[in-house]
Amino acid sequence: MSSNDPRLLALQQALPELRLTTEASELEHYGRDWTRRWTPAPLAIALPTRIEEVQAIVRWANEQGVAVVPSGGRTGLSGGAVAAHGELVLSLERMNKVLAFDAVDRILTVQPGIALEAVHNAAREHGLVYPVDFAARGSCSIGGNIATNAGGIRVIRYGNTREWIAGLKVVTGSGELLDLNRGLIKNSSGYDLRQLLIASEGTLGIVVEASLRLADPPPPTNVMLLALPSFEVLMQVFAEFRSRLQLEAFEFFTDRALQHVLAHGAQKPFEELHPYYVVTEFAIGNEAQEAAAMAAFEACMEQGWVSDGVISQSDAQAAQLWRLREGITEALAPYKPYKNDVSVRISAMPAFLAETQTLLGQAYPEFEVVWFGHIGDGNLHINVLKPDGLDNDEFVRQCEQVTKLLAQSLRQHAGSISAEHGIGLVKKGYLDSTRSAAEIAVMRGIKQVLDPNGLMNPGKLFDP
Ligand code: MLT
Ligand code: ZN
Repeated sequence: MSSNDPRLLALQQALPELRLTTEASELEHYGRDWTRRWTPAPLAIALPTRIEEVQAIVRWANEQGVAVVPSGGRTGLSGGAVAAHGELVLSLERMNKVLAFDAVDRILTVQPGIALEAVHNAAREHGLVYPVDFAARGSCSIGGNIATNAGGIRVIRYGNTREWIAGLKVVTGSGELLDLNRGLIKNSSGYDLRQLLIASEGTLGIVVEASLRLADPPPPTNVMLLALPSFEVLMQVFAEFRSRLQLEAFEFFTDRALQHVLAHGAQKPFEELHPYYVVTEFAIGNEAQEAAAMAAFEACMEQGWVSDGVISQSDAQAAQLWRLREGITEALAPYKPYKNDVSVRISAMPAFLAETQTLLGQAYPEFEVVWFGHIGDGNLHINVLKPDGLDNDEFVRQCEQVTKLLAQSLRQHAGSISAEHGIGLVKKGYLDSTRSAAEIAVMRGIKQVLDPNGLMNPGKLFDP
């Protein structure tokens, strides 16, 4: 470390083995996430390897009055891991190991910096699965997944991250180590602080260890790509497939989304163009399930809800079909998209979809809008692409005008401004569209208890 900042010198003196860096390229690298909207400006980056170091760093932060931004894979899309105001970035990337596996409990205990994909691989080595999954699996960390209660493509079958957390060790904003739930299945002993920490976006403390519940591997599955003639039939197709099949995933995207993924090198699935598509994965463990899949497809064709379809004949083809959906984020990234990540109850989806389509059609006449998402969970991603030559701040300003209208509509439909990406910096202005004033007051009170000096990821979720 080459800084003469007395606060950093004190930290390095207290923890001589701690990797602490103020190198310009590292400040830039660790100070941002995938939003790319803010200019990184952290004080320094600390990369601890032990829980005791994390505790010591948090105690130092309290003594010195330095804010701390906990940092995982920084694949977040809401600015939750951005450090733009002289904070210390506390990166968990060196705490990335599998610590234990218990075959009786079927629990894998890991450090927070481990990548989601490494968790998948470790579970597979024991003949089990960790079922939360999404496209950023290779880069995102389990600590970040916990901080946002990450969802992804299999929520319809397995739920969000919070369903799979059997225990957490957390360092609070005052440096206390809490060992929460300890892998218990049944534990009626008061407030579930483990669940409180999940989705708290680093504002209450730092996850330093997680015990993950593992599941049996799924039955064999098939992947089907469906072409839909209109938006209106989407939820009918979903209802038809869900009533007949055990769905592992049900994802939708528009032709605009597909065109971007194709331009990125994916293979064209149909000769003809169709306005909407669904990728669905379902169990085909026996002949009855295989027959049910064909019956669902044929019923939708007969109704005119589906105009074409492909079913995977091999793992390679299944992966090709998934690429059409999973490649969207990467294909859109060069356009600096303004991302909406909203949800309503599935039953409210048809009315919400119709209203939102009209709203955005009127509000965004100039911008390209790309729709996709986890429609089977009531979660829609609406990405607005920045036109070439338009200043980014002006682009965001114009998009926010529409987000205000979207937030009103979400309020009416009792939905959420963030289904799975988190509030972070991006959506804190809209938190009150989803949470009542009384709820936000309780959240602030909780923060006050766990982080009395307001040093844990300040300015994220809500302003101090
Ligand atoms: C997805 O569903 O692909 C992710 O939430 C990422 C995104 O919205 O870009
Ligand atoms: Zn998503």
